Amino acid sequence: KKTVPWVDVDDDDKSRKTPLKRNNDMVNVHDQHHSARKSKKARHSYLSMSDLPSENGDASSSNHSRRRSSGTAGPSASSTPRLIALQEQRRQLPIAQGKDALIEEIRNNDVTVLLGETGSGKTTQVPQYILESGLAENGQIAVTQPRKVAATSLATRVSTEQQTPLGSTVGYSVRFDERSSSSTRIKYMTDGMIVRELLSDPLLNKYSVVIVDEAHERTLRTDLLIANLKTIQKQRNRPRDEKGKGNADKMSPLKIVVMSATLDAEKFSKFYHNAKILYVKGRQHPVKIYHSASSQPDYVDAAMRTFFQIHTDQPPGDVLIFLPGQEDIESLENSIKLFANQLPCDTMDVLICPMYAAQAPGQNAKVFTQTPTNTRKCILATNIAETSITIPGVKYVIDTGKSKEKRYLARDSGGGFDTLLTKDITKSSAMQRAGRAGREGSGVCFRLYTEDAFNSMELSAEPEILRVSLTASILQLKCLGQDLEELDLMDKPDFDSIISALKTLWLLGALDNNKKLTPLGRQMASFPLEPPHARSIIASQAFACTAEVLNIIAVLSSSSKLFVDVSTFRDEIATARQKFRHPAGDHLTILNAFRAYEEVADSESKSARREWCRKHFLNERALLEAKEIREQLRQVCARAGIDWKATCGENEDPVIRSLGHGLTMNSAFLQPDGSYRQTMGQSIVKIHPGSVLCDKKVPAIIYDELIYTNQIYARGVSSILKSFFVTHAALNQRNA
Ligand code: CDP
Ligand code: MG
Repeated sequence: KKTVPWVDVDDDDKSRKTPLKRNNDMVNVHDQHHSARKSKKARHSYLSMSDLPSENGDASSSNHSRRRSSGTAGPSASSTPRLIALQEQRRQLPIAQGKDALIEEIRNNDVTVLLGETGSGKTTQVPQYILESGLAENGQIAVTQPRKVAATSLATRVSTEQQTPLGSTVGYSVRFDERSSSSTRIKYMTDGMIVRELLSDPLLNKYSVVIVDEAHERTLRTDLLIANLKTIQKQRNRPRDEKGKGNADKMSPLKIVVMSATLDAEKFSKFYHNAKILYVKGRQHPVKIYHSASSQPDYVDAAMRTFFQIHTDQPPGDVLIFLPGQEDIESLENSIKLFANQLPCDTMDVLICPMYAAQAPGQNAKVFTQTPTNTRKCILATNIAETSITIPGVKYVIDTGKSKEKRYLARDSGGGFDTLLTKDITKSSAMQRAGRAGREGSGVCFRLYTEDAFNSMELSAEPEILRVSLTASILQLKCLGQDLEELDLMDKPDFDSIISALKTLWLLGALDNNKKLTPLGRQMASFPLEPPHARSIIASQAFACTAEVLNIIAVLSSSSKLFVDVSTFRDEIATARQKFRHPAGDHLTILNAFRAYEEVADSESKSARREWCRKHFLNERALLEAKEIREQLRQVCARAGIDWKATCGENEDPVIRSLGHGLTMNSAFLQPDGSYRQTMGQSIVKIHPGSVLCDKKVPAIIYDELIYTNQIYARGVSSILKSFFVTHAALNQRNA
């Protein structure tokens, strides 16, 4: 087999071109120190051994805090060896040494910015310290995460540490799933969920501390949260006599903690009136970095070859491979499995653990379990393993240098669209990825790109607010009586992107001609869905086909794809799925598959059901999740007075019409030359090869999304009558 040629870049001269002092000093506390000194405005402190009592002193201080905590929900010195080991592990985390100093700072400041290497214990420990210190006596502690998987897995871990069942003291809240109760004190939640909570609790009175975690990722929701927290805190922390009469007494002060894994803490500090920045010193071991000597366009293949180079030549230690997305992960998983079976029998076994955001809860547990003897774990992950989740045992990192980035291409015509493209990562991501190899001892990172490529990478990613569609957020803010244009944001979005979102909302009937929220818009916002999907459900009421539309939207909202696509089985897949195919397109095909599954599910055993899905190349995980989502959506419908049982029976035309109301801007007409042209923009779009309508020519189509690769593909396509758009436009004008 061919091997990948490597260049050793551990050489001071060359690396001086990079922002790093030395390539093998990943997140270097001295660099942070340096940048801290440069700034006169922000206040800085270090939470490290040197600031605190000696080892003896430390031991007694941690005993002391444990004693103090035993009265509250804190863990009692407990029984099983596993729990004792767990508590010992907690005490060994770098952040444990700064615990008392950290709590003092949070006590004395409204806003604290906490910076620390991944794995130092920020996310799991800080909420527990706050709980044990009594700083959150009047409310809950919210810990926000950009990703659902991180929120649920962290809640599971921390509830184990607290020795309480998940959903009691420690819970989580993510879209379509919640585990919490009236006794919940620490709640891990996605940033999207807490922004939604503003609708029912505009001052977030339920929480006395909000921890904005992974703030460096600068997701759109995190930015909206950071902006809102600033005004909320101003209102809640006003001196008592200044607070107006009425409910002012009920308002308790709010503490904000912003946590970040990368170096750009200054920006958060400045935004919050020069809030104090605290640093946790980590325990980063040296990581030796190799760049590939030439570029590797087929990075999946290069990753596979590099893995086997490590596996056959290098001492034990787990391997973490960073890939852009689920498809690449699945394809690499297959090829590694194939070759691992052909190795001589004296080689170590390989245990593959995939890890990506769309995985069902619980699926990634394998990653955290101890590697069996004579086995090498190979973790295939997206950038979820970059900072949000720490995986123990990793000694080798293979970095493809790629990640998927969502970007909205706003068009002046209003027909903008989201793209999800595989892109080069940033320097700061590359550093984070390499750092994963040095958590428990010295490690090695193999970068599947040249050193020149590294040097020309962007320093850090652009905040999401500058590159994603703002439609859903603008609608949510309108419900709060806020305008995105007027919000005090860390970065202001482009004008084009705001206009495009306003146009979409107007087309959907959520805003009137004066950009004012309509009752329809308010109703749309009550669904935890993108506005077009919410609009389709509301439209289905008039067509009496809500049952069908809910089925389709539930499948589309599931975090994994229903139709499994394995290129080696393309013909078998087509034959197996033949019976679901609907001539009107993908939406009704989904409906057929979901219905067929439910029939099997009603009458067959669990294993028969699984076998049926396997035979038809359907992803049962997606179907199970869709059933749960449908249940949630039914409840929202019931609250909105929409009869979710209404069904249109055999004639499914109303289903397409309902979907059309939501997807008006996602439509295209057939051109005389056989291509399709967007109705809201000028782009030529092609029907995706995976679509039922792929080689069909129908006069007009609606689609779920456009995917931009070498050309613009429409995915999730249905045929619709051209006349629909004429009547629809006329109706909209009359209503506006
Ligand atoms: O937030 P930060 O990256 O600073 O660290 P953390 O997420 O609090 O993780 C601290 C340590 O807890 C990690 O080094 C892991 O060893 C451990 N951990 C775990 O074993 N399982 C989890 N699900 C989460 C954390
Ligand atoms: Mg963390």
